[in-house]
Amino acid sequence: MSAGADGGGGAAVAVESAEGGPLEDGFVPSALGTREHWDAVYERELQTFQEYGDTGEIWFGEESMNRLIRWMQKHKIPLDASMLDIGTGNGVFLVELAKFGFSNITGIDYSPSAIQLSGSIIEKEGLSNIKLKVEDFLNLSTKLSGFHICIDKGTFDAISLNPDNAVEKRKQYVKSLSRVLKVKGFFLITSFFN
Ligand SMILES: C[S@@+](CC[C@H](N)C(=O)[O-])C[C@H]1O[C@@H](n2cnc3c(N)ncnc32)[C@H](O)[C@@H]1O
Repeated sequence: MSAGADGGGGAAVAVESAEGGPLEDGFVPSALGTREHWDAVYERELQTFQEYGDTGEIWFGEESMNRLIRWMQKHKIPLDASMLDIGTGNGVFLVELAKFGFSNITGIDYSPSAIQLSGSIIEKEGLSNIKLKVEDFLNLSTKLSGFHICIDKGTFDAISLNPDNAVEKRKQYVKSLSRVLKVKGFFLITSFFN
C-alpha cells in the first residue's frame, strides 16, 4: 500500500521489523493492517457521510471499478452471478455493481462502521437488493460459500500489513477464499503489490 493512501486521511503508522525495514516477504507491517485503524477510518467516514453526504475514499479510483466491470462484461459473467466483495469498506463498488445490473451481491467487512456506512450509502442510492454482513474474512462465522465471483479491492493488502503474524493471516486468507469461492469461480483482486 503506498504512502498517503491510507483510507481517508488516517495516520499510517508503520511498524517495521526489528531491523527497521520490511520483513523478509517485502511487506512493512503497518497500522493499516489492524481492525482499530479501519474502525477509526469508517467511524470518521460515517460521521462525514451523515453530516455532508460525502461517501469517502474510493480506493484505486473510479477507473479500478470500471475496469473490473469491463472484465466481467467481456467474460460474459451473468447478471445473476453470486458475488462477494471481501472487505467492502464504504460499499461504493457494490453500488456500482448493482447499478450495472448485477443482482446477487454481498459485501462483508470486519468493521461494523464500514457496514453501517455501506448500508447508508446503498439506502441513499435507493438500492435494496444488496446483502451486507459484518464478517472477519479470516474467521468466517456464517455459511458464506458458493460464490461465482469474489472481489478484493485493497483488503488482501491490508491483511498483508498486519503487524501480528501477517504470514499466517495470508495463509488463512487463502483458506477462507477457497471456502467461499465455488469451483470454477473467479477471484478478482486489485492490489498495490504487483
Ligand atoms: C483498503 S480498504 C478497501 C475497502 C474497499 N474494498 C474499497 O475498495 O474501498 C481495506 C478494507 O478491508 C477491510 N478488512 C481488512 N481486514 C479484513 C478482514 N479480516 N475481514 C474483513 N474485512 C477486512 C477493512 O475494514 C477495509 O474496509
